[in-house]
Amino acid sequence: MRSRPPTSGGTPPRWVSTSRPGKPRAPGRSWTRPPTSPRRGPTVGTYDFGALVARISHAVHGTGATRVSLDSLGAIFTRFPDKAVVRHELFRIATTLEDLGVTCVLTAERTDEYGSISRYDVEEFVLNNVIVLRNGLYRERRRTVEIVKLRGAPHRTGEWLFTIDPQDGIVVIPLAFLPLDKGSVRQDRVSSGVPALDDMCGGGFFRDAVILLSGPTGVGKTLTALSFMVAGVDAGERCLLYTFDETEEQLRRSIAGWGMDLDQVDATGLLTLVSEYPEASSLEDHFIRIRRSVEEFRPQRLVIDTLSALERIATPRALLDFVIALGAVLRPRGVTTLLTALPGQSYAGPGGPSIAGQIASLTDVAILLRYVESPGHVGRAITVLQTRGSAYDHRVRAVTIDHTGLHVGAFLKGVSNILAGYGSPLLNTRPWPAGAAEDTSQPEPHE
Ligand SMILES: Nc1ncnc2c1ncn2[C@@H]1O[C@H](COP(=O)(O)OP(=O)(O)OP(=O)(O)O)[C@@H](O)[C@H]1O
Ligand SMILES: [Mg+2]
Repeated sequence: MRSRPPTSGGTPPRWVSTSRPGKPRAPGRSWTRPPTSPRRGPTVGTYDFGALVARISHAVHGTGATRVSLDSLGAIFTRFPDKAVVRHELFRIATTLEDLGVTCVLTAERTDEYGSISRYDVEEFVLNNVIVLRNGLYRERRRTVEIVKLRGAPHRTGEWLFTIDPQDGIVVIPLAFLPLDKGSVRQDRVSSGVPALDDMCGGGFFRDAVILLSGPTGVGKTLTALSFMVAGVDAGERCLLYTFDETEEQLRRSIAGWGMDLDQVDATGLLTLVSEYPEASSLEDHFIRIRRSVEEFRPQRLVIDTLSALERIATPRALLDFVIALGAVLRPRGVTTLLTALPGQSYAGPGGPSIAGQIASLTDVAILLRYVESPGHVGRAITVLQTRGSAYDHRVRAVTIDHTGLHVGAFLKGVSNILAGYGSPLLNTRPWPAGAAEDTSQPEPHE
């Protein structure tokens, strides 16, 4: 409905109930039983909303309300089987409210998520603004909001995800903020925590980069992510790690096994570890919680380990939206973000298990950790697939893991099939990794 801008601050709004004044009161708000209609007379002829309209007007005048809510239209229109009558009566309500100068929200049920906009097919023609809320089933339930019409003002189109948060109520996932990223790019770089990986990326990650690290299970994603966190703590940066794969205790045990001094890190207060089961909430709720942590803890580095665990509760499309929304929140704040994932289809070919391939196009840096198989040995290798805005080393390097952490070593000259998900050195090279496939020549200049 049209109307004067809603008031903000000052006197708390008075909640006017025309039906159940005994409902629990919201803090700081009062429920007022409005005066009954000015005069009750006998009803003659067809039922109409004359009395309701008069009652609303009377209540608005009596309470000084500036906002009115009718929840819901469906309940009051059940008396009218004829659409023409519904339209007429709705028009009567709408014009009365418009004349009163109040902002009014009318709710109405819909029978089909993507069918008619409203049950009687007339509501949207009579009213000035129409917003559709959906709760569609796309493997999981996803709530979306769509502004179908907003007379006299430009608005965003399409469906936008939202969630109902116990703390903040309806929260729309801010995919819409993405274009604001432009122009806020950072030129300074941060260390990955692995010096050789910094070199491969042309001197570390840009501070506002979103980095995708993909690799199969056990290859070293969590270890790399932790090295990234510890490097942040060493640089005096606040670091936030979300793990959807392991409990905090498991993570702490691994950290100790890799020789990192967690007590020392804890003493700085700069690292926060959060362990959550993906199934504990919807993807949107995870997003809201991560965003809230970012706003409250204000980390300079963030890790999500792994996105693939979130695939258990979300469709690929939803996960893409999640990554877009994360980027929209994190990039403008200059948070260096490392996302880990299992290898994706576009890297691994048909049958690849995860979303990593599609997500790679949304990130700034793509790093592959892979197993490399040679007769009698399975080693590890790392390569950088892209670094937006920077030169990088295109070659594949050996990786070893021991009790002191992850080490990037020799260049693996003969290795192939890395993109297919499993590297294998050429047969005429010496066994990997003892220097066989090693390229002993000087490192190539960055391209
Ligand atoms: N002290 C240690 N010495 C040598 N290797 C270790 C040590 N501690 C752990 N590892 C190995 O480090 C490897 C990397 O583990 P990491 O947890 O980083 O893998 P991941 O890629 O995160 O796997 P997942 O996808 O299953 O989470 C594992 O294969 C593990 O066996
Ligand atoms: Mg892991």
